[in-house]
Amino acid sequence: MLMVTGGAGYIGAHVVRSLLRDGHEVVVLDDLSTGRPELVPDGVPLETGTVCDSAFVADVLDLYDVDSVVHLAGRKAVDESTARPGYYYRENVFGMLSILEAMVRTDVRSIVFSSSAAVYGTTDCERVTENSPTNPASPYGRTKLMCEWMLRDIAAAEGISWTALRYFNVAGAGEPSLADRGAHNLVPKVFQALDEGLPPTVYGDDYETPDGTCIRDYIHVADLADAHAAVVPTTRSARTAATYNVGRGHGASVLEVMRAVQRASGVCFDWRVGDRRAGDPARVVADAERMSRDLGWQARRDLDDIVSSAWQAWSGARPVAAVPGEEGDTIPVGT
Ligand SMILES: NC(=O)c1ccc[n+]([C@@H]2O[C@H](COP(=O)([O-])OP(=O)(O)OC[C@H]3O[C@@H](n4cnc5c(N)ncnc54)[C@H](O)[C@@H]3O)[C@@H](O)[C@H]2O)c1
Repeated sequence: MLMVTGGAGYIGAHVVRSLLRDGHEVVVLDDLSTGRPELVPDGVPLETGTVCDSAFVADVLDLYDVDSVVHLAGRKAVDESTARPGYYYRENVFGMLSILEAMVRTDVRSIVFSSSAAVYGTTDCERVTENSPTNPASPYGRTKLMCEWMLRDIAAAEGISWTALRYFNVAGAGEPSLADRGAHNLVPKVFQALDEGLPPTVYGDDYETPDGTCIRDYIHVADLADAHAAVVPTTRSARTAATYNVGRGHGASVLEVMRAVQRASGVCFDWRVGDRRAGDPARVVADAERMSRDLGWQARRDLDDIVSSAWQAWSGARPVAAVPGEEGDTIPVGT
């Protein structure tokens, strides 16, 4: 049996479905702070509580005879992590320690951990490899890096097999009911602005990039979920100590994402250029070769797939208010 922490959240709900599809048995542990119980599929037990309670985690591991953990539970908003760093260190770093202690106590020796491209911070690499320097620019990124360090040290001492997946910018929806409702990331933020009838904000257009806006590597959440399905069997069956970038290896600027939203939605909208945000690197794009070489995993969906699936899911759930511009009149890319 696998235990998926954070399985009632946006990414976790997709991961649980990929694991079930591959024939795994799953129990979800989630405190429902941002997760929703209806995202847990029928037949999958949901244990409600915090990963920070190590005794509770150990009870769940024992009760379901768990032999492997996929740990996604945590806080993910960069801005909030700057405003409330203590909360982030407790939830993410202490939460990780609590899980590892529960695993050692119950003799569970395999874990896949949700890390983040935020561990790299500002970088001048064209594409970051797993060996590129880590220099996180936010408390959030530092919590993820600390979790990786703790995982490596405790796993080496206790004989735990582990894989850390450094997710790049996750967006899209595998099915309409699984939309990202968090509005912490660019794509849902744009949708939210459109819902409110406001022009979305571009944070800075004077970066040293071709169109002056930040470049990121967007990955479809269904591809990311499949990456988990690829690493779970290897992490579970053989002693593993591995870190993988999970991205597409292609960068898209903020303006390219805006135009993808226009294409997907058919809504012609203007955007507003705001100030740069502190700690936003100009460009962070994955070198995803290691995962492809070791496991044969590659992202299959492109930016239009990502944004159109996200739009279908979002607009199915919320009516879009009138926005500046004309409906049905998309602005072509390159203008
Ligand atoms: N969304 C992204 O672009 C992105 C990028 C990189 C890494 N990540 C990481 O992926 C993971 C999942 O992110 P998401 O986008 O699905 O976020 P989410 O907020 O939708 O999901 C997080 C889930 O964890 C649960 N949770 C939070 N704290 C908990 C705790 N202390 N105990 C038990 N459950 C708890 C929440 O209720 C929720 O169900 C996070 O660890 C995040 O840092 C996300």
